[in-house]
Amino acid sequence: MSQIRKLDRTLAARIAAGEVIERPQSVVRELIDNAIDAGADEIVLSIRSGGIEEIRVSDNGRGIMKEDLPLAVTQYATSKIGTIDDLYQLRSLGFRGEALHSIGAVSRLTIASSYEGLPPWTMVTDNMEDEGIREGGPDRGTIVTVEDLFGQIPARRSFLKRPASEAMLCRNTLLSKAMAFPSIHFSYIQDEVRRVDLPRRERLFDRVMDVLCLEENFNRKEFVFLEKDCGDFSISLVTSLAGVHRSDRSRIKVYVNRRPVDEYSLVQAVVYGYGEILPGGAFPYSCLFVQDAPELADFNIHPAKREVKLRNKAEIHHAIHNLISKGLPREIPAIVARPDQPQQPYLEPVAKTDTSWTDASFTRDRIIHADPERNFQPDAVSQKPRDNGWLDKAKAIFHEEKARPYQASSTPAENFWKPEKAQFTYLGQAFRLFLICQKDDKLYLVDQHAAHERILFNELRQQRNVQRLLVPIDFEVDGDVDAFLCENGYIYTQYGIALSQKDDRLWSLDSIPQSALTNEKKLVSFIQNSTGSEEEIEAGLYSIVACRAAIKAGDYVDDATARALLEKVFELEDPSCPHGRTFVVTLEERELRLMVGRTQ
Ligand SMILES: Nc1ncnc2c1ncn2[C@@H]1O[C@H](COP(=O)(O)OP(=O)(O)O)[C@@H](O)[C@H]1O
Ligand SMILES: [Mg+2]
Repeated sequence: MSQIRKLDRTLAARIAAGEVIERPQSVVRELIDNAIDAGADEIVLSIRSGGIEEIRVSDNGRGIMKEDLPLAVTQYATSKIGTIDDLYQLRSLGFRGEALHSIGAVSRLTIASSYEGLPPWTMVTDNMEDEGIREGGPDRGTIVTVEDLFGQIPARRSFLKRPASEAMLCRNTLLSKAMAFPSIHFSYIQDEVRRVDLPRRERLFDRVMDVLCLEENFNRKEFVFLEKDCGDFSISLVTSLAGVHRSDRSRIKVYVNRRPVDEYSLVQAVVYGYGEILPGGAFPYSCLFVQDAPELADFNIHPAKREVKLRNKAEIHHAIHNLISKGLPREIPAIVARPDQPQQPYLEPVAKTDTSWTDASFTRDRIIHADPERNFQPDAVSQKPRDNGWLDKAKAIFHEEKARPYQASSTPAENFWKPEKAQFTYLGQAFRLFLICQKDDKLYLVDQHAAHERILFNELRQQRNVQRLLVPIDFEVDGDVDAFLCENGYIYTQYGIALSQKDDRLWSLDSIPQSALTNEKKLVSFIQNSTGSEEEIEAGLYSIVACRAAIKAGDYVDDATARALLEKVFELEDPSCPHGRTFVVTLEERELRLMVGRTQ
């Protein structure tokens, strides 16, 4: 007897469906795509029990004709392309004619639709069993309902996560689609509760910000919109300024022809575009939209269309890099003394793009800098009460110093650093790298970047203020992260981050360092994605908790910032960067005098 036999229709359909429909999220993706292709400007997604019990997408698009209803659930039946050439002139999201068929193979599927305002019809198929067509449905558009997903494929269902996690994935899919279609009103209802409502927006920037602000309370001024038309393709980008960043690339989203795609090289282009603007290990929040000529972008690679082949990828890469590196305004963090806490400088973004040389505040600042008295008022910035006896003290110190015999070639380890409270005179910045100051009989040249990095790093390490969260944050992790946390959870404890395992792959964040209080979500996302060495974890935490980037080499640093930074530098036990490299050069007055031939 023959060993090979043809699979029955239902089994074959279920196997094929596996490629398109992996979980509730895949259903949501396909149904929203169909609603968008139908020209809707109002789309409502509602789910029950993470979409496992029910997923429903309603739209106000053009609808489906009664005679097309059975065709819609037929494999390879589509209204979107007719010939192979159409595939290279795609204007729609769908084209494979597979989605409704696949969904129908693994669920109870109801499609109710009114074609261009004609009387509506409703068709039901239950795991491919046709239950016929009856009158009734919405007055306008289409409602597709998917119930009991994988109800007849228990093995498949057992791979699904908890309903709350599946719901989160569905919601994220809606948000990810909504980003690229600002002119469509999207709503999301979970277990009868409306959780997301995104009004129509004229500008892409506003829609992207609406979505980002659902996750975190961002200040829209900390994001910019950049765009460039390059002929065959154009790029639009909503991206964060240097003050807003996170420790992984997961919020760099790439869209090609309004589809979210996994295109790592374009994510890299964004990261390279930032270059030195962000510190190592920090990444921006970016949404990149590439609109490419349809004949240059091929999506017919994977059924889920997460991949794209771009014939002009190198050009696009180059254009993204240029757009960001040339167009992104620079934001330089400054350390200024808070009037009410003179000893505790804090970071505040002050300036400005390279184009801001004409900016009024900057000009004013420069005029103040030109004041010759300014360098002789080291305490003007921190607003400490002026000590009128300073001249006498200075004289006394001067005489004392003079009386001390000069020690040639003092050993750096013993004499080099005196951590006592500084009384120094700030002289200026050199090469946009060194802050130069005079203290006693020495000149100090301080590497501004390394110094600031060290200070931020210390602040993280010395976390003593650990805050117990009122409501611990539960989060799921993959198997490898679960194992990692079981063994290496102590690494986090060292930084005041307490984690507890609640169940297999389910963890809870119980306490965090106070300085991370506004960044819990970033922290959770970092923990969910990290299995690195202790150093890597430390570096990642550093970039999350030190929420502002360190001053860079090349940044202009104003006097107030420089003084505040130097004050902190002089408080350090040892002026070396976290990697052990010293960042202060000292020049002694006597050595300098000797160099010019003076012996006294
Ligand atoms: N919400 C909808 N509104 C109007 N037509 C729809 C909708 N959903 C599906 N259709 C019709 O059903 C067809 C099959 O849909 P689908 O299986 O998703 O394949 P594809 O989107 O690749 O064409 C579509 O080509 C379209 O004509
Ligand atoms: Mg489709």
